[in-house]
Amino acid sequence: MTQFTFDAPGSNVAPFDAPTIIRTKRDGGVLSDAAIDWVIDAYTRGAVADEQMSALLMAIFLRGMTGPEIARWTAAMVNSGERLDFTDLRRDGRPLALVDKHSTGGVGDKITIPLVPVVMACGGAVPQAAGRGLGHTGGTLDKLESIPGFSAELPKERIRQQLCELGAAIFAAGELAPADRKIYALRDITATTESLPLIASSVMSKKIAEGARALVLDTKVGSGAFLKTEAESRELARTMVDLGSAHGLSTRALLTDMATPLGRAVGNAVEVEESLEVLAGGGPRDVVELTLALAREMLDAAGLDGVDPADTLRDGTAMDRFRALVAAQGGDLNRPLPVGRCSETLTASSTGVVRRLDALAVGLAVWRLGAGRSAPGEQVQFGAGLRIHRREGEPVTAGEPLLTLYTDTPERFAAAVAELDGAVDIGDTAPPPRPLIIDRIV
Ligand code: URA
Repeated sequence: MTQFTFDAPGSNVAPFDAPTIIRTKRDGGVLSDAAIDWVIDAYTRGAVADEQMSALLMAIFLRGMTGPEIARWTAAMVNSGERLDFTDLRRDGRPLALVDKHSTGGVGDKITIPLVPVVMACGGAVPQAAGRGLGHTGGTLDKLESIPGFSAELPKERIRQQLCELGAAIFAAGELAPADRKIYALRDITATTESLPLIASSVMSKKIAEGARALVLDTKVGSGAFLKTEAESRELARTMVDLGSAHGLSTRALLTDMATPLGRAVGNAVEVEESLEVLAGGGPRDVVELTLALAREMLDAAGLDGVDPADTLRDGTAMDRFRALVAAQGGDLNRPLPVGRCSETLTASSTGVVRRLDALAVGLAVWRLGAGRSAPGEQVQFGAGLRIHRREGEPVTAGEPLLTLYTDTPERFAAAVAELDGAVDIGDTAPPPRPLIIDRIV
């Protein structure tokens, strides 16, 4: 037998290559820890191309990942950047009650906007690394940036200062889990959002890195969620809770309904406007209910008791906190919020009760109106969105307005209206009631 000998080139040669890793996953194999560490690190550094990561994401989307693969992928994403630590910060001589919330993505899901000031007003400190729109779901950053002047690009020192002085900072993840920043943007434009391993690792890498001590997850169930069925959403919640615990982040989850949009406004500025209504003590019942349920979970997880978060909406303290937070981040709530220059109203074709208003169709329509992205780095329209005049369970007469659509670019109306085809059912009787909060997973 011939023996080959050669001088090993040593450490200059990469131990893995992207095509082999893609092929392994494409063919249903399991990625080794070392392969995962390498590909996340190489992609973050730019040594793996977007095209290669896109192919790998699609392979993961189609083939899934084992529990250990998800855990390693998440840890590698956490390790791709820095991990913030606020445990040295004090307010009135006491450590901060650092707690955060994250949603797996929904339609009309503006809950972070009223929730953060409610928790601030109850004594919590919220370091919130927020995201941009993903697929048909809106992003907190895109919504908040519709406030003139608001900036989410906060340096670390500024986050620390705001946490101490105000009790919250809402910021773009920046150098936290930079692998997620790149992968998130890629998933948004490659139809690879609806994947349990990719959602769990995306959410948890940011949240583990952001420096909270406790986390409450809002895991959505229904057509407007990325994972539609209750069984899939339960598995997602369980996976994320376990990932948090494994990294020393006390994590719990609510499973909540996302079959129909939350509230009456879907889009960017329109959702800020509705959040202001909630902070003023009004607003749609479901938005208030979910805000308060999540606030109670956050306060409990942070060990803060004795304050009823509902009081902060009644007495205006949450609104005061929101104004202070927005002002600290450069926003001016005295200037008008943008509204799409053109509008189109859709009316009811028959008389009866709205039996179904489909969250996914509404989310896609709003995305088509320009509230989300279909190309890398695309600028969203802050005024794009939709108002819901009749929600599920509400009576309507033929010819009355059902939905009003807003955009700056009227050529988008046709595609948005096409998404809404079949999205509304009107019948003789009200639909059976569905609980907003389905379960709690700890
Ligand atoms: N939120 C995230 O941060 N990532 C996802 O994949 C979905 C929701």
